[in-house]
Amino acid sequence: MTDAIRFILNGEAREVSGLSPTTTVLQYLREHERLKGTKEGCAEGDCGACTVLLGEMTGNKVVYKAINACIAFLPTLDGRQVMTVEHLKSADGGLHPVQQAMVECHGSQCGFCTPGFVMSLCALKDNNADASDEDIHAAIAGNLCRCTGYRPIVDAARKAKGGKLDSDLEQLKILQRRKMFRYETAEGKFFAPVTVAELAEVVNAHPEATLLAGGTDVGLWVTKFHQSLPVIIYTANVRDLQQIRKTATALEIGAAVTYSKAFEELAVYDDSLQELLSRLGSMQIRNSGTIGGNIANGSPIGDGLPPLIALRAQLVLRSVEGVREIALEDYFIAYKKQDRERGEFVEKIIIPRRAKNTQFRVYKISKRFDQDISAVCGAFSLSFKGKTISEARIVFGGMAATPKRATAMERSLIGKEWTEETVTQAMSLLGQDFTPLSDMRASADYRRTTAQNLLYRFFIETTEPETATRVYGYGS
Ligand SMILES: Cc1cc2nc3c(=O)[nH]c(=O)nc-3n(C[C@H](O)[C@H](O)[C@H](O)COP(=O)(O)OP(=O)(O)OC[C@H]3O[C@@H](n4cnc5c(N)ncnc54)[C@H](O)[C@@H]3O)c2cc1C
Ligand code: FES
Ligand code: FES
Repeated sequence: MTDAIRFILNGEAREVSGLSPTTTVLQYLREHERLKGTKEGCAEGDCGACTVLLGEMTGNKVVYKAINACIAFLPTLDGRQVMTVEHLKSADGGLHPVQQAMVECHGSQCGFCTPGFVMSLCALKDNNADASDEDIHAAIAGNLCRCTGYRPIVDAARKAKGGKLDSDLEQLKILQRRKMFRYETAEGKFFAPVTVAELAEVVNAHPEATLLAGGTDVGLWVTKFHQSLPVIIYTANVRDLQQIRKTATALEIGAAVTYSKAFEELAVYDDSLQELLSRLGSMQIRNSGTIGGNIANGSPIGDGLPPLIALRAQLVLRSVEGVREIALEDYFIAYKKQDRERGEFVEKIIIPRRAKNTQFRVYKISKRFDQDISAVCGAFSLSFKGKTISEARIVFGGMAATPKRATAMERSLIGKEWTEETVTQAMSLLGQDFTPLSDMRASADYRRTTAQNLLYRFFIETTEPETATRVYGYGS
């Protein structure tokens, strides 16, 4: 028994069947709806030309977020609302204030990028009418323009006022499902369970299936590597996996919580986590990509992993057999090989509350400030008894086949005072922990030197807070 994909497109209900489950939202809009305002630039989430707004029911209202239509699969729209540039208008039926401001500020030349920028800015204005310059830069960091230059676009963003978007709350309510959504065509099957029990059962029945969360990795398997995915199990509708729970001792984050929401909570551990979030992909990627996807993917350069390991996160894996809890660092066995049994999935992570007398920082080093993959990501956590270091957790991404702790460096710190001599000695031990590779992002030498220097930066920031160490970013 297969269901139709039911969603709202530009205010109108749609029921779609017969299209492959890996049809992208972009292909559907352009080829089947003939809505050609949404463009394809890269088909990998990098340029923002395909940006559309996804409306989701949150409590009793619809919240819009900008996403990349090029890497989202059509069945993920089920129960949601999508808005394209063709649907924008002002209250009197003229141009939307963002469009009008783009005209007045000369924010467009060839126009290829323009619908994407407009959609990103509409999402910003809808959620945050008083957006600061920093908010504006963050909203459009995932949109590339090769001819206008960004200043007129930023001017337009500053100038545009108002422009609250319509929503179709009542129609959306009708589309919410209480049971698993099943969609099937000759090309493949797509399951979207809504409870964790349903998820466990369907994963058990189809252990070979591809789990899909935000699709910021899986989407590219289709658009770039032309893989066919015969069975897909979508985790983002599972209510339990979307939960964030705060207990007296820990923060628990469900696997399907997006980067945007997860890091909002994680920021209480340290401001540097907020900065890391602002540099993880783009707004569109952060609105889709999930903390569970970042972990399960097991990439040596996944930005969520070094800080979570440094913060002593535990990983909860579930199957029909029950749950299993392991230290996050033990999940990563070898390059792209994780400790996940057949039939298991990542349910949540548990991060203990930050203990008193600890110092923590995370640093991402990449060629570009925004929307770039880390060459090195270093996370540092030290606990103190009096002036003595009692526990050290130093974790690097980009330095080995998996995210990995620097155990020799850690050992050398324990029992010592946090002095320049201590830190210099620990830095000298990096070679015992890592033999990094050279690749297009950085040479092995660069990675070694950078990783050592990040420890030194951590030392400076924790012992001489008045010394400026932040040398990049907007407006500096
Ligand atoms: C333009 C762009 C920029 C990016 N920038 C960054 C960046 O700056 N930093 C960074 O770290 N990453 C970045 N990424 C990578 C991406 O966000 C990660 O690869 C992340 O893994 C994807 O999470 P997701 O929720 O989108 O997962 P998906 O793509 O849906 O899935 C990723 C993997 O996890 C598996 N999976 C998902 N959920 C579960 C679960 N609950 N249990 C078990 N397995 C599961 C899937 O089967 C798949 O193997 C970027 C990607 C793009 C396209
Ligand atoms: S086409 Fe470039 S981000 Fe989608
Ligand atoms: S106006 Fe030509 S790419 Fe932006």
